[in-house]
Amino acid sequence: MKQREQWATKMGLILAIVGNAIGLGNFLRFPVQAAENGGGAFMIPYFIALLLLGIPLLWVELSIGRMGGRHRHGSTPGIFALLWSHPAAKYLGVLGLFIPLVINIYYVYVGSWTLAFSFFSLTGKYFGAETREAMGAFLRGFQGVEFNQYFSSLSPAYLFFLVTFGLNIWILWHGIVKGIERLAKIAMPMLFLFAILLVIRVLTFGTPDPTYPDRSISAGLGFIWNPNFKELGNISVWLAAAGQIFFTLSVGLGAIVTYASYMREKEDVALSGLATGSLNEFAEVILGGTLAIPAAVAFFGLVQAREIAAGGAFDLGFQAMPVIFQKIPLGEIAGTLWFLLLFFAAITSSVSMAQPILAFLQDEFSWSRRRSVVVFGVVWFILAQPIIFLLPHGFLDEFDFWAGTLAPVCLAFVEVVLFAWVFGMVKGWKEMNKGAAIHVPKIFYFILKFVTPVYIGTILVIWFYQKFWDNLMLVGVSKEDFPFVIAARLTLTAIFLALLVMIYYAWRRKKERT
Ligand code: PHE
Repeated sequence: MKQREQWATKMGLILAIVGNAIGLGNFLRFPVQAAENGGGAFMIPYFIALLLLGIPLLWVELSIGRMGGRHRHGSTPGIFALLWSHPAAKYLGVLGLFIPLVINIYYVYVGSWTLAFSFFSLTGKYFGAETREAMGAFLRGFQGVEFNQYFSSLSPAYLFFLVTFGLNIWILWHGIVKGIERLAKIAMPMLFLFAILLVIRVLTFGTPDPTYPDRSISAGLGFIWNPNFKELGNISVWLAAAGQIFFTLSVGLGAIVTYASYMREKEDVALSGLATGSLNEFAEVILGGTLAIPAAVAFFGLVQAREIAAGGAFDLGFQAMPVIFQKIPLGEIAGTLWFLLLFFAAITSSVSMAQPILAFLQDEFSWSRRRSVVVFGVVWFILAQPIIFLLPHGFLDEFDFWAGTLAPVCLAFVEVVLFAWVFGMVKGWKEMNKGAAIHVPKIFYFILKFVTPVYIGTILVIWFYQKFWDNLMLVGVSKEDFPFVIAARLTLTAIFLALLVMIYYAWRRKKERT
């Protein structure tokens, strides 16, 4: 049998996992979440979730992924079957295919906007759209929400989508070492370099407009970091913090286990987990926290910055920031750097979201990598079309809610229960500390066994109670969007069922062969 792929170097492995984790979540989602959920006070539930959920889950996923790889399983169905020898185990793993697949359907499209906007920054295409309103029209025109003086068709957006999609396929086609590892070695250092340059630029904004002395970078930093402790009584702040930790570290999403399955048997888990976790947090809290929101306060003032944050991550990144670039010297350059930074963040994450399915096809159906890439590429391409053409009708939000918000908490719960209780902490701990360069502190034995499962379980319960019904029953969905939301849900259900059927066939096929 052919040898399974493995990361070539330790550095490459770390950079690839960091690339997986650092994504749009760090630079767009995080600042908005922090600003909306109590500013500095958000950091308390955030760091608690990091210590009790994020880091422990990262270690679990690296351990079970590495173990899976040893048995030629790189995705959750096969890995769960190793943890629990029950025929149902593999089906529980369906979430680890469903989540990254669905998120990626829209993530790649958003990634292509960042490429487009870096191009538009360089060429000065949006220069002239100097207000937030004008930039909003520019963005809506680009997305095809409305056609206006800036865009009269969806072609530019579609073109950039094709380029981005093609790049993803090209990287995946070259495999783990020559594709993903090489990409990470180039993109990650660039990302950090660009981010640090931009942070320096933002911190030297001072008070850009002397007529508004309250609009300054220090007011901006105060806005995102001054704690509002009253918010801590609000349960949704705790849910938001946990959700952000899942999203940003890519845990509970199925993507880390797959990358870990290409680790060598003796590669260490504890230190790799800590290193990637810390780099991700540095990029998120220090770099991500200093860029967009403080800049928005310095140029628009507190009231408007709050409005922008409430409008969501896209308004902040694609509307407010381009207005700022038009007001600073050499804004073309700053804009290009900002959007390229986002592009590098996005593409290193989107390839990681495609890999679980590719691993599934290769490991469980014995397909070659190239065949898997081509077949999956076609399906992926088809599924991306409704997102592109039906964007204004809430397709993206629907996908994001089910696959990006609810499902990860479910998957994380299944994962930690299987690991700590079914496989058992004694065996699990041994597995985790195999080849360890540093040992996982003993306290995490208890955290993993009791605290993490109870924490995630509580989130799930509260969450079902608070939001599930409203969402299921389409509270707040307008009449016009209704058929589209239903269509989105049918699509999601079809994907889910198709994956279950594939798991069924994969295992039946194996049985027949033995
Ligand atoms: N962690 C990535 C981010 O912060 C997103 C991601 C989700 C990556 C799912 C892999 C899998 O943007």
